[in-house]
Amino acid sequence: MAKIIIKGGKTLNGEVKISGAKNAVLPIMSATLLCPGKFTIYNVPDLRDTRTMMQLLEITGAKTSFENGTVWVDTNNVNNPEAPYDLVKTMRASFYVLGPLISRFGKVQVSLPGGCAWGPRPVDYHLKGLEKLGANLDLEGGNILAEADELIGCDIHFEFPSVGATGNLAMAAVRAKGITRLFNCAKEPEITQLCEFLNIMGANIKGIGTDSLVIEGVKELNHADITVIPDRIEAGTFLMAGALNGEIKINNVIPLHLEKVTNKLIETGCQITINDDSISITPPENLKSVDMTTAVFPGFPTDLQAQWVALMSLSDSSSIVTDIVYHDRFSHIPELARLGANIKVEKNTAFIRGVDQLVGAPVMSTDIRASAALFIAALAAKGETEISRIYHIDRGYEKIEQKFLGLGADIRRVS
Ligand code: EPZ
Repeated sequence: MAKIIIKGGKTLNGEVKISGAKNAVLPIMSATLLCPGKFTIYNVPDLRDTRTMMQLLEITGAKTSFENGTVWVDTNNVNNPEAPYDLVKTMRASFYVLGPLISRFGKVQVSLPGGCAWGPRPVDYHLKGLEKLGANLDLEGGNILAEADELIGCDIHFEFPSVGATGNLAMAAVRAKGITRLFNCAKEPEITQLCEFLNIMGANIKGIGTDSLVIEGVKELNHADITVIPDRIEAGTFLMAGALNGEIKINNVIPLHLEKVTNKLIETGCQITINDDSISITPPENLKSVDMTTAVFPGFPTDLQAQWVALMSLSDSSSIVTDIVYHDRFSHIPELARLGANIKVEKNTAFIRGVDQLVGAPVMSTDIRASAALFIAALAAKGETEISRIYHIDRGYEKIEQKFLGLGADIRRVS
């Protein structure tokens, strides 16, 4: 099993280009299933998850190829509306094919995603919404079987602004009969871009970027091309690596997507310079402890919570981090403790006492963002850290060791 070895304590310096957003390209790739055609998607990160999504599209009958950051999808011969367990269990986002496939074929079989590293992740909002649109659902052998002669527009209110449910139901509704209104929707930039892509395909979605989407069903959809937005979570991860380890400039970003994160980093004493499509960070002498509570966009993203905890483990006093999106997303804490971090978790809150120094040790990745937190901590720790199960980080970060090598880190991958 491959591992990453990091020799900490090096001061980082330099620039890094941020890749396309994983959580935008996955629903966009699913949306190509809505109609026959040839699609070109630019600025796609080469990740395990984008490769998994290509496999999933091929299982439905699509043809895909990937070269130099561009993905081509030909959905003319899609004829198998199915997402099997062995793929869905490796990537929850496979569930995104539910909406497009039932819209195009009137039936679909998708494996129920299991839990994930940090606990159950239900899909009840997706299923309730589909039933409201007129689908009949059955659960058989761990698969959702959904059928609908016709999807009829309706009002759907989300209990929580779910990113996945907003995306899935928007895709199901674009060709439903009449008007579908989604309330308390997710406003994450990745969902905004998905809705923009659907409109380029010929859909009629209003209220994009707000928490209420009004979707008037259309008859026809066509193929379309799109350039994926930069990955704000990768960007935030590198900014936090800079806050602990040195001066970094991140290029190819949309600063507006990171406003809450850069404001929080300024509170810790970091110097932040924001340009049109780049952000520079200079760390302070002493990193101030700053409390943080996650929120849906435009709040502080839960996908940067683990990285923030790593940062605060070396801050000058105590801080409190609460995750209101996922109440049990703390699998990174025991691993950070192995490096010497002083953190206590109670329910969905981490109480962090900053320490003067972390010391390298063998640690284990448990999910994409927990791995990123371990990278940030290992880069600052004294001595050598060995990170195992790095297939997690390869799911969500493109060429991560090359990018850190380019910043002067002492990092290598060993198989
Ligand atoms: C997306 O997951 C992201 N994944 C996650 O990023 C991210 O952490 C999450 O949104 C929150 O921002 C992708 O976009 C592929 P949700 P998703 O539905 O859609 C509850 C990463 O590291 N909920 O917004 O699954 C749920 O339990 C990944 O890139 C229900 O109760 O998240 C959670 O508490 C990790 N029922 C909250 O809503 C449902 O039917 C938010 O989940 C759906 C969600």
